[in-house]
Amino acid sequence: MSAGYAVPPDLPGSCTWVPDAGDERLRDYFSLTDVALRRVVEPERGLYMAESEKVIRRALAAGHRLRSLLMTPRWVQEWPDLLRTAQEQGAPVYVAAPAVAQEMTGFHLHRGVLAAMHRPQLPSLDSVLAGARRVAVLEDIVDHTNVGAVFRSAAALGVDAVLVTPRCADPLYRRSVRVSMGTVFQVPWTRIDPWPDGVDALRDLGLTVAALALSEDAVPLEQLEAAPPERLALVLGTEGDGLSSRTVRAADLVVTIPMGGGVDSLNVAAASAVAFWAVRPRGGPAS
Ligand SMILES: C[S@@+](CC[C@H](N)C(=O)[O-])C[C@H]1O[C@@H](n2cnc3c(N)ncnc32)[C@H](O)[C@@H]1O
Repeated sequence: MSAGYAVPPDLPGSCTWVPDAGDERLRDYFSLTDVALRRVVEPERGLYMAESEKVIRRALAAGHRLRSLLMTPRWVQEWPDLLRTAQEQGAPVYVAAPAVAQEMTGFHLHRGVLAAMHRPQLPSLDSVLAGARRVAVLEDIVDHTNVGAVFRSAAALGVDAVLVTPRCADPLYRRSVRVSMGTVFQVPWTRIDPWPDGVDALRDLGLTVAALALSEDAVPLEQLEAAPPERLALVLGTEGDGLSSRTVRAADLVVTIPMGGGVDSLNVAAASAVAFWAVRPRGGPAS
Protein backbone atom coordinates (compact mmCIF):
# COMPACT_ATOMS: atom_id res chain seq x y z
CA MET A 1 0.00 0.00 0.00
CA SER A 2 2.90 2.37 0.67
CA ALA A 3 4.83 1.39 -2.47
CA GLY A 4 4.52 3.28 -5.72
CA TYR A 5 6.23 6.61 -4.94
CA ALA A 6 8.66 7.74 -7.62
CA VAL A 7 12.34 8.23 -6.76
CA PRO A 8 13.01 12.00 -6.70
CA PRO A 9 15.14 12.84 -9.77
CA ASP A 10 17.60 14.94 -7.74
CA LEU A 11 18.22 12.35 -5.02
CA PRO A 12 21.95 12.44 -4.19
CA GLY A 13 23.83 9.23 -4.96
CA SER A 14 24.79 8.91 -1.27
CA CYS A 15 21.09 8.48 -0.31
CA THR A 16 18.99 5.32 -0.46
CA TRP A 17 15.37 5.63 -1.60
CA VAL A 18 12.89 3.66 0.53
CA PRO A 19 9.69 2.79 -1.33
CA ASP A 20 8.28 0.44 1.31
CA ALA A 21 7.39 1.08 4.97
CA GLY A 22 8.19 -2.54 5.81
CA ASP A 23 11.81 -2.40 4.57
CA GLU A 24 13.72 -4.38 7.21
CA ARG A 25 16.85 -2.28 6.76
CA LEU A 26 14.92 0.47 8.54
CA ARG A 27 13.68 -1.56 11.47
CA ASP A 28 15.32 0.93 13.87
CA TYR A 29 12.52 3.30 12.82
CA PHE A 30 9.54 0.97 13.15
CA SER A 31 6.69 1.88 15.53
CA LEU A 32 8.37 4.80 17.25
CA THR A 33 5.15 5.74 19.04
CA ASP A 34 4.89 2.36 20.77
CA VAL A 35 6.53 3.37 24.06
CA ALA A 36 6.35 -0.08 25.64
CA LEU A 37 8.05 -1.67 22.63
CA ARG A 38 10.68 1.02 22.17
CA ARG A 39 11.57 0.99 25.85
CA VAL A 40 12.72 -2.60 25.39
CA VAL A 41 14.17 -2.68 21.87
CA GLU A 42 16.27 0.46 22.00
CA PRO A 43 18.57 -0.53 24.89
CA GLU A 44 18.52 -4.16 23.68
CA ARG A 45 19.74 -3.21 20.20
CA GLY A 46 22.12 -0.56 21.51
CA LEU A 47 20.41 2.37 19.85
CA TYR A 48 18.46 5.48 20.62
CA MET A 49 16.57 7.89 18.41
CA ALA A 50 17.36 11.56 17.88
CA GLU A 51 14.66 13.65 16.24
CA SER A 52 15.27 17.03 14.63
CA GLU A 53 18.40 18.44 13.14
CA LYS A 54 19.26 20.35 16.32
CA VAL A 55 19.13 17.29 18.55
CA ILE A 56 21.18 15.25 16.07
CA ARG A 57 23.84 17.96 15.99
CA ARG A 58 23.97 18.06 19.79
CA ALA A 59 24.36 14.30 19.92
CA LEU A 60 27.16 14.40 17.35
CA ALA A 61 28.87 17.25 19.20
CA ALA A 62 28.84 15.03 22.31
CA GLY A 63 30.74 12.40 20.34
CA HIS A 64 27.80 10.07 19.67
CA ARG A 65 27.73 8.18 16.37
CA LEU A 66 25.07 7.74 13.73
CA ARG A 67 23.64 4.36 12.76
CA SER A 68 21.52 5.92 9.98
CA LEU A 69 19.43 8.92 9.01
CA LEU A 70 15.85 9.00 7.73
CA MET A 71 14.62 12.02 5.78
CA THR A 72 11.75 13.03 3.54
CA PRO A 73 12.70 14.37 0.09
CA ARG A 74 12.18 18.07 0.74
CA TRP A 75 14.90 18.10 3.43
CA VAL A 76 17.62 16.24 1.58
CA GLN A 77 19.38 19.34 0.23
CA GLU A 78 18.98 21.23 3.51
CA TRP A 79 21.90 19.90 5.59
CA PRO A 80 24.74 18.73 3.31
CA ASP A 81 27.12 18.56 6.26
CA LEU A 82 24.88 16.01 8.01
CA LEU A 83 24.96 13.85 4.88
CA ARG A 84 28.75 14.14 4.84
CA THR A 85 28.99 13.15 8.50
CA ALA A 86 26.75 10.15 7.83
CA GLN A 87 29.02 9.12 4.98
CA GLU A 88 32.16 9.54 7.12
CA GLN A 89 30.60 7.41 9.86
CA GLY A 90 29.48 4.75 7.41
CA ALA A 91 25.81 5.42 8.23
CA PRO A 92 23.23 5.06 5.45
CA VAL A 93 20.93 7.98 4.65
CA TYR A 94 17.43 6.74 3.87
CA VAL A 95 14.91 8.93 2.07
CA ALA A 96 11.21 8.10 2.01
CA ALA A 97 8.01 9.82 0.92
CA PRO A 98 6.23 11.45 3.91
CA ALA A 99 3.44 8.84 3.81
CA VAL A 100 5.95 5.98 3.86
CA ALA A 101 7.93 7.56 6.72
CA GLN A 102 4.71 8.10 8.65
CA GLU A 103 3.52 4.54 8.14
CA MET A 104 6.90 3.25 9.28
CA THR A 105 7.44 5.44 12.34
CA GLY A 106 3.86 6.12 13.41
CA PHE A 107 4.07 9.91 13.12
CA HIS A 108 4.51 12.66 10.57
CA LEU A 109 8.18 13.57 10.15
CA HIS A 110 7.56 17.30 10.40
CA ARG A 111 11.03 17.92 11.82
CA GLY A 112 12.49 16.73 8.53
CA VAL A 113 15.02 14.24 9.81
CA LEU A 114 15.33 11.41 12.29
CA ALA A 115 18.49 9.63 13.31
CA ALA A 116 19.09 6.23 14.76
CA MET A 117 22.15 6.69 16.98
CA HIS A 118 24.51 4.19 18.55
CA ARG A 119 23.76 4.18 22.28
CA PRO A 120 27.01 5.05 24.06
CA GLN A 121 28.35 2.82 26.83
CA LEU A 122 27.42 4.18 30.23
CA PRO A 123 30.38 5.61 32.13
CA SER A 124 31.37 4.30 35.55
CA LEU A 125 29.93 5.87 38.69
CA ASP A 126 33.41 7.00 39.75
CA SER A 127 34.11 8.82 36.51
CA VAL A 128 30.73 10.56 36.49
CA LEU A 129 31.14 11.70 40.09
CA ALA A 130 34.79 12.75 39.91
CA GLY A 131 34.87 16.37 41.09
CA ALA A 132 31.05 16.68 41.11
CA ARG A 133 29.79 19.05 43.80
CA ARG A 134 26.08 18.72 43.02
CA VAL A 135 24.51 15.42 41.98
CA ALA A 136 20.87 14.54 41.30
CA VAL A 137 19.64 10.99 41.80
CA LEU A 138 16.37 10.06 40.06
CA GLU A 139 14.70 7.15 41.81
CA ASP A 140 12.35 5.17 39.56
CA ILE A 141 10.92 8.19 37.72
CA VAL A 142 8.44 6.79 35.23
CA ASP A 143 7.62 9.67 32.93
CA HIS A 144 10.15 10.48 30.18
CA THR A 145 8.98 14.08 30.18
CA ASN A 146 9.93 14.45 33.83
CA VAL A 147 13.34 12.86 33.24
CA GLY A 148 14.03 15.28 30.39
CA ALA A 149 12.84 18.27 32.40
CA VAL A 150 15.08 17.35 35.36
CA PHE A 151 18.11 17.15 33.04
CA ARG A 152 17.29 20.56 31.61
CA SER A 153 17.15 22.08 35.10
CA ALA A 154 20.30 20.20 36.12
CA ALA A 155 22.22 21.68 33.19
CA ALA A 156 20.96 25.18 33.90
CA LEU A 157 21.29 25.22 37.67
CA GLY A 158 24.76 23.90 38.38
CA VAL A 159 24.18 20.17 38.80
CA ASP A 160 27.35 18.36 37.71
CA ALA A 161 26.01 14.81 37.33
CA VAL A 162 22.77 12.85 37.26
CA LEU A 163 22.36 9.25 38.44
CA VAL A 164 19.33 7.18 37.47
CA THR A 165 18.25 4.13 39.44
CA PRO A 166 17.81 0.77 37.67
CA ARG A 167 14.05 1.25 37.18
CA CYS A 168 14.14 4.91 36.22
CA ALA A 169 12.93 5.81 32.71
CA ASP A 170 15.59 6.08 30.00
CA PRO A 171 17.18 9.54 29.59
CA LEU A 172 17.94 8.63 25.97
CA TYR A 173 14.33 7.84 25.10
CA ARG A 174 13.09 10.16 22.33
CA ARG A 175 10.78 12.21 24.52
CA SER A 176 13.34 12.61 27.33
CA VAL A 177 15.92 13.82 24.82
CA ARG A 178 13.47 16.30 23.30
CA VAL A 179 12.20 17.70 26.61
CA SER A 180 15.76 17.95 27.93
CA MET A 181 16.61 20.15 24.91
CA GLY A 182 19.61 17.91 24.33
CA THR A 183 21.02 18.39 27.84
CA VAL A 184 21.03 14.60 28.31
CA PHE A 185 24.09 14.78 26.03
CA GLN A 186 25.67 17.50 28.11
CA VAL A 187 25.25 16.56 31.77
CA PRO A 188 27.30 13.48 32.68
CA TRP A 189 25.03 10.65 33.84
CA THR A 190 24.96 6.95 34.49
CA ARG A 191 22.85 4.29 36.21
CA ILE A 192 23.45 3.60 39.88
CA ASP A 193 22.94 -0.08 40.57
CA PRO A 194 22.18 -1.50 43.09
CA TRP A 195 19.81 0.98 44.61
CA PRO A 196 19.17 2.05 47.35
CA ASP A 197 22.32 0.25 48.49
CA GLY A 198 24.16 2.72 46.26
CA VAL A 199 23.55 5.42 48.87
CA ASP A 200 26.57 4.00 50.73
CA ALA A 201 28.71 4.28 47.62
CA LEU A 202 27.77 7.95 47.31
CA ARG A 203 28.68 8.56 50.92
CA ASP A 204 31.98 6.72 50.49
CA LEU A 205 32.76 9.07 47.63
CA GLY A 206 32.36 12.01 49.98
CA LEU A 207 28.81 13.12 49.12
CA THR A 208 26.19 14.08 51.67
CA VAL A 209 22.97 12.37 50.57
CA ALA A 210 19.77 14.40 50.97
CA ALA A 211 16.40 12.77 50.28
CA LEU A 212 13.78 15.18 48.97
CA ALA A 213 10.61 13.98 50.63
CA LEU A 214 7.53 15.08 52.46
CA SER A 215 8.17 13.58 55.87
CA GLU A 216 7.50 15.18 59.21
CA ASP A 217 11.08 14.97 60.41
CA ALA A 218 12.39 16.70 57.26
CA VAL A 219 14.32 19.95 57.42
CA PRO A 220 13.03 22.82 55.26
CA LEU A 221 15.02 23.51 52.10
CA GLU A 222 16.03 26.95 53.41
CA GLN A 223 18.05 25.24 56.14
CA LEU A 224 20.06 23.27 53.58
CA GLU A 225 20.36 26.36 51.41
CA ALA A 226 21.87 28.35 54.29
CA ALA A 227 24.73 25.89 54.81
CA PRO A 228 24.99 23.39 51.96
CA PRO A 229 27.71 20.75 52.22
CA GLU A 230 30.64 20.92 49.84
CA ARG A 231 29.43 17.83 47.93
CA LEU A 232 25.73 17.04 47.87
CA ALA A 233 23.51 14.41 46.23
CA LEU A 234 19.81 15.29 46.05
CA VAL A 235 17.58 12.23 45.68
CA LEU A 236 14.20 12.69 43.97
CA GLY A 237 11.41 10.15 44.08
CA THR A 238 8.99 8.56 41.67
CA GLU A 239 5.83 10.38 40.62
CA GLY A 240 3.22 8.32 42.43
CA ASP A 241 4.68 7.04 45.68
CA GLY A 242 7.68 9.29 46.17
CA LEU A 243 10.93 7.92 47.61
CA SER A 244 11.02 4.44 49.06
CA SER A 245 11.22 4.28 52.84
CA ARG A 246 14.55 2.44 52.52
CA THR A 247 16.02 5.35 50.60
CA VAL A 248 14.70 7.88 53.08
CA ARG A 249 16.18 5.86 55.96
CA ALA A 250 19.53 5.47 54.22
CA ALA A 251 19.91 9.20 53.45
CA ASP A 252 21.94 11.55 55.66
CA LEU A 253 19.05 13.99 55.87
CA VAL A 254 15.54 14.51 54.57
CA VAL A 255 14.63 17.84 53.01
CA THR A 256 11.21 19.35 52.24
CA ILE A 257 10.28 22.28 50.07
CA PRO A 258 7.64 24.03 52.16
CA MET A 259 4.35 24.39 50.28
CA GLY A 260 1.05 26.14 50.79
CA GLY A 261 -2.29 26.43 49.05
CA GLY A 262 -3.42 22.99 50.14
CA VAL A 263 -1.09 21.35 47.59
CA ASP A 264 0.28 18.01 48.78
CA SER A 265 3.34 17.74 46.53
CA LEU A 266 5.14 19.35 43.62
CA ASN A 267 5.72 17.69 40.29
CA VAL A 268 9.13 16.01 40.57
CA ALA A 269 10.71 18.15 37.85
CA ALA A 270 9.40 21.32 39.49
CA ALA A 271 10.74 20.15 42.85
CA SER A 272 14.12 19.44 41.27
CA ALA A 273 14.39 22.95 39.82
CA VAL A 274 13.57 24.60 43.15
CA ALA A 275 16.06 22.42 45.03
CA PHE A 276 18.86 22.70 42.44
CA TRP A 277 18.57 26.46 42.51
CA ALA A 278 18.57 26.66 46.30
CA VAL A 279 21.74 24.60 46.70
CA ARG A 280 23.58 25.74 43.58
CA PRO A 281 27.31 26.06 44.14
CA ARG A 282 28.03 29.71 44.74
CA GLY A 283 30.58 31.24 42.42
CA GLY A 284 29.62 28.79 39.61
CA PRO A 285 27.91 29.67 36.32
CA ALA A 286 24.40 29.47 37.81
CA SER A 287 25.14 31.74 40.77
C1 LIG B 1 5.08 13.95 42.90
S1 LIG B 1 6.22 13.77 44.15
C2 LIG B 1 5.68 12.29 44.95
C3 LIG B 1 4.62 12.55 45.91
C4 LIG B 1 4.42 11.41 46.89
N1 LIG B 1 3.04 11.24 47.14
C5 LIG B 1 5.20 11.67 48.17
O1 LIG B 1 4.59 11.72 49.20
O2 LIG B 1 6.44 11.82 48.12
C6 LIG B 1 7.68 13.18 43.38
C7 LIG B 1 8.94 13.59 44.07
O3 LIG B 1 9.13 15.00 43.98
C8 LIG B 1 9.82 15.46 45.13
N2 LIG B 1 8.96 16.46 45.80
C9 LIG B 1 7.76 16.90 45.37
N3 LIG B 1 7.30 17.87 46.20
C10 LIG B 1 8.24 18.02 47.16
C11 LIG B 1 8.36 18.89 48.29
N4 LIG B 1 7.42 19.76 48.61
N5 LIG B 1 9.46 18.76 49.06
C12 LIG B 1 10.44 17.88 48.75
N6 LIG B 1 10.37 17.06 47.69
C13 LIG B 1 9.30 17.13 46.91
C14 LIG B 1 10.10 14.26 46.00
O4 LIG B 1 11.39 13.77 45.76
C15 LIG B 1 9.04 13.27 45.52
O5 LIG B 1 9.44 11.94 45.76
